Amino acid sequence: MTGLPALGLEYSAVTGKGYRLARPLELLSKPEISAFLDRHAALRISAVEIHDRIDSTNSHLMACARRGAASGLISLAEHQTAGRGRRGRRWVSPYGGNLYCSVLWRFRDCGLAGLSGLSLAAGVAVIRALRRVGVTEAGLKWPNDLISRERKLGGILVEAAGESDGPCFAVVGLGLNLRLSEREGLDIDQPWIDLAALAGADAVSRNKLAGLVLSELVRALSDFEAHGVKVFLDEWRKHDRLYGREGVLLLSDRQIYGILAGIDDNGLLILQGADGRRQLFASGEISVRTV
Ligand code: BTN
Repeated sequence: MTGLPALGLEYSAVTGKGYRLARPLELLSKPEISAFLDRHAALRISAVEIHDRIDSTNSHLMACARRGAASGLISLAEHQTAGRGRRGRRWVSPYGGNLYCSVLWRFRDCGLAGLSGLSLAAGVAVIRALRRVGVTEAGLKWPNDLISRERKLGGILVEAAGESDGPCFAVVGLGLNLRLSEREGLDIDQPWIDLAALAGADAVSRNKLAGLVLSELVRALSDFEAHGVKVFLDEWRKHDRLYGREGVLLLSDRQIYGILAGIDDNGLLILQGADGRRQLFASGEISVRTV
C-alpha cells in the first residue's frame, strides 16, 4: 500500500479490511469521455491522450505542436507535477480530483494578433458546459477566470506561437476544481471553491464533465476561428461577475484603480477612472475587495 500516499490520496485504515479512500475516485476514461463528446467535436478532435502523471498538459501540447502535431489534439491528466497558471503561478494539481486538460488548435490564417480574445471564448465555453451539468452559479472574471461566490473555481491558460499574420497555433488549457480537500487547498494562494461545494460532492461525474467541456471548447474554437471574438461578447458580458465593481488592475509595473466597466467589442477590459475617463486594457489581473 505504498501507492496511495505517493499519489497524495487521503485514506483511512479499516480493521480487517484494508484501506478506504477519504473520497471516491473516478479516474478519467477515454470511452466514458467519448460518450459525452458531441458529433461536431468528435469530427474535429484528432486524438485524446490521458496521462496518469505529466508535468503540464499545456507544456506537453506546446511541445507536440512544435513537432507538427495535428489540430484537435487533446491532453488530459490525473495529476500535473508542474501545472502552470497565468502570470507564472503554479496550478495546484492533486491526483484524480479535478479537471486538467488542454486542446491544441491550429489557425490557418488569422495570425497571432487575431487570437486576442480567444481566452474569452474559452471562458464562455466552460460556462456553457457547467450549465449543462446544472451548475448555474459560476461566472467569469476578466480575462479568463471562472469564479463563484467570489472565489476561484477554475482558470484558463492560453499559449500561442506562430506567425503574426499567418499560420499559428494555440494551446487552450483549463484547470477546473471539482473536489479539493482543505489540505490541498492550503497550497492555493487565493480564495478558491470547488464544484463539490456548488453542486454536491458526487453530483458531477469527471468523465461527463470532461466530455462536455471538450465538446464546448472545440465548438468555441471553431466558431472563434470562423467569426472571431464578436460572437462570444454578449454571452461573456452576461456572465461578467465583476461588472460595475470597484477594483484595481495589477499590471507588471503599476496598479490602476477604477470601476470595472465590462469589455469592449474586441474583448478589452474597460476601466473607468475617478474622473470618468475610460481606459482599455489587453492584459493584467483584477483584484476586487470581497463584499
Ligand atoms: C490560471 O492561472 O487561472 C490558469 C490556470 C490554467 C491551469 C491549466 S491545468 C491544465 C493546463 N496545464 C497547465 O499547466 N495549465 C493549464
